[in-house]
Amino acid sequence: MTKDTIHIPSNRKWQRHFKAKGFIPFMHDRLQSYALGGMNQYDENPFNFAIRPNEENLLAQYFFEFVEEFPYDITIEVTNNCNLNCVFCARQKMSREKGFMSMDLYKNIIDEIASKRPFSYVHLYGIGEPTIDPDIIERIVYAIQKGVTNLIIFTNGKNLLENDFYKKLADTGIGTIGIDVDAFTSDTYGRIRVGGSFDRLIAGITALNEYITENKLNTRVELAYQVYDAVNQAEFSQFQEWALEHDYEYKIVAMHQWAGLREDIECQDSHRSHERQTPCSALWSSFMILWNGDVAVCFQDANGCELMGNVANDAIETVWRGKAKEKRKAHVKGTFTGLCKNCKEYLYNNLPPCNSSVYPEDLTDD
Ligand SMILES: C[S@@+](CC[C@H](N)C(=O)[O-])C[C@H]1O[C@@H](n2cnc3c(N)ncnc32)[C@H](O)[C@@H]1O
Repeated sequence: MTKDTIHIPSNRKWQRHFKAKGFIPFMHDRLQSYALGGMNQYDENPFNFAIRPNEENLLAQYFFEFVEEFPYDITIEVTNNCNLNCVFCARQKMSREKGFMSMDLYKNIIDEIASKRPFSYVHLYGIGEPTIDPDIIERIVYAIQKGVTNLIIFTNGKNLLENDFYKKLADTGIGTIGIDVDAFTSDTYGRIRVGGSFDRLIAGITALNEYITENKLNTRVELAYQVYDAVNQAEFSQFQEWALEHDYEYKIVAMHQWAGLREDIECQDSHRSHERQTPCSALWSSFMILWNGDVAVCFQDANGCELMGNVANDAIETVWRGKAKEKRKAHVKGTFTGLCKNCKEYLYNNLPPCNSSVYPEDLTDD
């Protein structure tokens, strides 16, 4: 799949994002996809502007200056334990220790985000399943009470119906609940999401959606269809028909290889040879905090091979303006070392070229 074919069929609705997030996060969200070469991800979006990654691109310049101060997109891995065994997941080859983030560390992270950039995107999942974390509801409520507005959870959906978990989740007021579907028959689902039940997943999504509608909650539900070519591509149109019939918002996601950890996964782009001329957007769009506080270079670094620091010892801001900045600087100058050397993720972005004056001076100076 190419970048174009991936995103065209998505039907994200800007009105729902707007309602769930509020004006300021929504506009920054748009700005982020604009500056980082994002795609037209919302239907009929009045805030859509053409992407012009060139020197005169003042909006992109503004974004890069803005994000240099503090990350706008932060992932908090509450746990790297999981209740499924998905075939394309990094967990198949993840060798780092497993655990749950301590509540003290979590609260420190949230407190810093709340005081410095409360409308940052905050993803409450990592390389594991967040709904098996016994403290997940308490964590979400804490973040919302502190004023963190742009909170997103992604789940495999296995636990939605357990003890009415879907109600507890929606009642927190979380902005977005993402759920992976990835198939449209029990057989295919079972081959990909090993250990899960397709019927129970669909029943959970339906119950959640009805609950949100009946209670007029602003939480948006976003379904994801990871395209694992030979296995589930044929069922996509059935999924799409069902999603449109029930007015579900969905996005389509292409396979990636977890920065080489899962080179065995077939992806069309992995065969593309490409002279590298742009930095990777992941350095600006995924500040990845692992459950023990380690900060990985980006979300692709599932084993925490290249650490930027640890937020149990240092503030997010210190790590962001320290080693993480060095990495951004290197990319802007066209130097791709460590995990980035062989990673293909950059093929999915459309950033301004290395050394462009769109990037702030302190990333281009020596
Ligand atoms: C690692 S999971 C963790 C959250 C949760 N357990 C779930 O399944 O949604 C985060 C997201 O990564 C996606 N994912 C896992 N492996 C992938 C791959 N090789 N390529 C693309 N997306 C992948 C999952 O489908 C999910 O949407």
